[in-house]
Amino acid sequence: MGSEDLQSHYARVTNLGNGTRMIVVASPANLAVLSESASADELTGLTLAAHAAHEPLPSALFRNAVLAIIEVDPQDRRSLDRISAVREQNPELDLVAAINDASVSLVRTLLREGISDVVALPFDPSEIVQVILDVSARRGEEIAAETTLAPVTVVARSIGGCGATSLATHLAAELAARDETGRGTLIVDLDIQLGAVADYLGVTPRNTISDLLTGEHRLDEELVRSVATDAGGGLWVIGAPRSIVPLESIDTDVLLRLLTFLRRQYAHVVLDLPANWTNWALSAALAADTVLLVVELSVASLRQAKRRLELFDTVGIDRSRIKIVVNRAERRLFRSINLEDVATTLGHPVLGSLALDAPLVSTAQNQGVLVGSVQRKSRYLADVAQLTTQLQELASGSQG
Ligand SMILES: Nc1ncnc2c1ncn2[C@@H]1O[C@H](COP(=O)(O)OP(=O)(O)O)[C@@H](O)[C@H]1O
Ligand SMILES: [Mg+2]
Repeated sequence: MGSEDLQSHYARVTNLGNGTRMIVVASPANLAVLSESASADELTGLTLAAHAAHEPLPSALFRNAVLAIIEVDPQDRRSLDRISAVREQNPELDLVAAINDASVSLVRTLLREGISDVVALPFDPSEIVQVILDVSARRGEEIAAETTLAPVTVVARSIGGCGATSLATHLAAELAARDETGRGTLIVDLDIQLGAVADYLGVTPRNTISDLLTGEHRLDEELVRSVATDAGGGLWVIGAPRSIVPLESIDTDVLLRLLTFLRRQYAHVVLDLPANWTNWALSAALAADTVLLVVELSVASLRQAKRRLELFDTVGIDRSRIKIVVNRAERRLFRSINLEDVATTLGHPVLGSLALDAPLVSTAQNQGVLVGSVQRKSRYLADVAQLTTQLQELASGSQG
């Protein structure tokens, strides 16, 4: 292991929280071996505390510590009592005993007392490194598991052209504008054959979703940064592939792994899906917190919406996560088919509606901007804002 690796692992451990520390407690002679054999750089982040094996240890020594490697003299009862006391007073601490000539029975006794590991004396620096790596990996996993995953909203259409992408882009922008975490909102265009998200937002992504789904490259923040394009206002875009790829080319497992990764990076993730339902699209919908099903007031759209709802039932998408949005709601039409009729027809409540605002919506999209950039106030934007509020209220309600 090179010293660079070692340092970055030290950094990872020491960055686990504000001022977290790793400590080695040993007699001056043993510590000398350690500090002589390792370069000063490699010891960054490691606190060396010189204490004879029997000497009691001040409890302040372990404040903010995640790992303590403590010398134990098996011949000295006080030394054994000392490590037991540290164990008892610092239940969260990873505790490692450093022992000269440890017998199997002693190691067993120590492990039973809650010591995580044993290293040999005199210190072997590579053994210390291994201990640090183990702790770092374990704590890293714990931290990753604790990090909350951002909510995912899927926008699904009943039929093509019903306004799903328009809603997805405006909803994502509205969520981004309201985000207080500074992590931003991400919209992912999974309409891999007809994707229009980047066009609607006027961005030209250098890389696309394909670069994240090949599985060729290791998924990390840098790779995501090279693919997500800044659309301004805290909104980020992962665009659809530039050339047409088969719908089945997406691997469900790879997609779900990507989704989980993205949910750690952003405050909210919005997915635009193709009109056709594949296994991976259904899996994405299953993983989502909310599925917005966009319908319009036409027989064809409502018929398809009903079929989609049945499909969602079949795969077990919880009905409470599905919200119907009626697009192109015209005042005039309201009288003939109102939202309640839609709910009755579909057997599912309607969350809200979006006004028909022509030609404003398509004018904005043709210019590659959001509606708000063309006209500050509009019925369409007001409806999107109201819908966003409703979704946020539902989300906070289901948390509490
Ligand atoms: N509420 C609306 N008012 C006016 N035009 C709309 C509205 N919703 C969508 N459109 C227009 O309809 C067309 C299709 O919308 P789009 O969002 O691309 O549909 P989908 O993604 O469902 O295929 C676009 O030209 C868009 O500008
Ligand atoms: Mg679309």
